[in-house]
Amino acid sequence: MPDRLDGRVAFVSGASSGLGAHFAEVLADAGARVALAARRLERVEALAKRLNLPERPAAAFACDVTNIVNIRQAVAATEAALGPIDILINNAGVSATQKIVDVSEADYDLVMDTNLKGAFFLAQEIGRRMIEGGRGGRIVNIASVASFKVLGQLATYGMSKAALAQMTKAMAVEWGRHEINVNALCPGYIGTEINADFLAGEGGKKLLAKLPRHRVGEPRDLDGALLLLVSGEESRFINGALLSVDDGLVLT
Ligand SMILES: NC(=O)c1ccc[n+]([C@@H]2O[C@H](COP(=O)([O-])OP(=O)(O)OC[C@H]3O[C@@H](n4cnc5c(N)ncnc54)[C@H](OP(=O)(O)O)[C@@H]3O)[C@@H](O)[C@H]2O)c1
Repeated sequence: MPDRLDGRVAFVSGASSGLGAHFAEVLADAGARVALAARRLERVEALAKRLNLPERPAAAFACDVTNIVNIRQAVAATEAALGPIDILINNAGVSATQKIVDVSEADYDLVMDTNLKGAFFLAQEIGRRMIEGGRGGRIVNIASVASFKVLGQLATYGMSKAALAQMTKAMAVEWGRHEINVNALCPGYIGTEINADFLAGEGGKKLLAKLPRHRVGEPRDLDGALLLLVSGEESRFINGALLSVDDGLVLT
């Protein structure tokens, strides 16, 4: 079993719904003090209130990852409230189902600015503080099966997630000497808000037929990988890994 996270501080971006909200809960249950960040402050506040315990506080922060000033403010506010950040779950993301010929500049920028630029500057801000603090850390970038595989009408999304996988490797190499392990968790299809409409429609039915075991995952299917990658001891030698948790989808 991965070690407990008592006394450690975790920052989860995109914690207002889906996987981020779930990850925040899993980390809090393992003992971490969790900062929940997202644009929809009321949502993260409600969740932080539910997770907050006197011995293991949780707190909510407004953070739009496409805004670098906003990232710095949220990270500084987290450290002031909870202490130095030990764990980053770089999870905020958007998807866009479109044919390539229909992608506008604004569509392109939204996906890239959120999934790649936002993830880069959030990791940079927290990584810089981890290096200065000399305490090491764990960064888990939430990439995707789309980092490796072409998924229909998800060109910009897949491009952003492929680049996120490369970012993971570059940060792992540059920051390993500071005891900061940077890995990517690459889920397959997990039922959340990001794909609820798609999975409920005709496209979803076709997708299910193609999946290795004709099923999508649930957020809890990622818990084992998440807890492994944030653990201090068990992940000591895991750095720069792109860990697929997708029921074998990437192999098909
Ligand atoms: N579900 C899947 O099948 C699946 C598979 C592979 C990878 N992923 C990845 O997992 C991550 C979470 O997705 P999900 O499935 O949980 O979808 P979701 O329920 O739509 O959650 C996306 C989260 O990202 C946040 N977000 C979006 N834009 C943001 C911004 N500019 N700044 C800060 N936060 C922002 C949203 O919060 P606000 O709107 O409140 O800001 C929300 O909390 C994404 O990176 C996604 O690509 C998901």
